[in-house]
Amino acid sequence: MTREVKKFRDLNELSEAVAADVAVLISKTVSKEGHFSLVLSGGSTPRTLHRLLGTVYREKIPWEAVSIYFGDERYVPHTDKQSNYLMAKETLLNLIPIPAGKVHPIPTDVADPARAAEAYDGELREHFSEKGKSFDLVILGIGNEGHTASLFPDSPALDELRRWAVFIEVPAVPHERITLTYPILNRASSIYFLVSGSDKKDALSKVENENFDYHTCPAKGLNPDHGELVWWVDSDAIGG
Ligand code: 6PG
Repeated sequence: MTREVKKFRDLNELSEAVAADVAVLISKTVSKEGHFSLVLSGGSTPRTLHRLLGTVYREKIPWEAVSIYFGDERYVPHTDKQSNYLMAKETLLNLIPIPAGKVHPIPTDVADPARAAEAYDGELREHFSEKGKSFDLVILGIGNEGHTASLFPDSPALDELRRWAVFIEVPAVPHERITLTYPILNRASSIYFLVSGSDKKDALSKVENENFDYHTCPAKGLNPDHGELVWWVDSDAIGG
């Protein structure tokens, strides 16, 4: 695994750099392998990146060869303003020529959410094998207490070894979530953390502090087995 930290002045500069990088990564991978799998995160940080990918970089990306997945979802209808799928739809998916069948939202319309997680697990298994590389790129954010996707401190999801998607209740609102787990995320070729704003200072210092592990700071559990880990951070998040 390679680990790199890239520093930027603010969210705009950071998002510009990620968008330019992602456009090249998708184009290169598609010309070599014919397709690209991208995992989107929720939260507000990726909104600027999404808009850039859907406007400035729209024509530079072979969208018809891209498959889109989600790192986590709040268990609310896809029309609810808290839905990660709705955020992605409004900020990116509505802007790009991506075939509908290539977008894989996490289902939230099943009466038993554990069944919805099983269904997403099954959907992932149709596209990825049991071993070796999974996604080409996973984009993630980090929360104040060190959570990422919906992997929160002390959650049983952190020690999941078998299932790739699980239903869990988390301290944040909305409490009911489905999240991907380490076993599938860590097989990605690239994992990019996007971190912006002064409210992320504590989270970043936990990541750098060896007294915290993946139980107390779940973002520390993201270490791609054979890929690259890049932290894209802005000066407010670093505190300098
Ligand atoms: C979610 C997320 C979550 C998010 C972080 C950072 O559904 O809430 O996927 O892990 O990425 O909480 O969120 P912000 O970008 O809003 O700070």
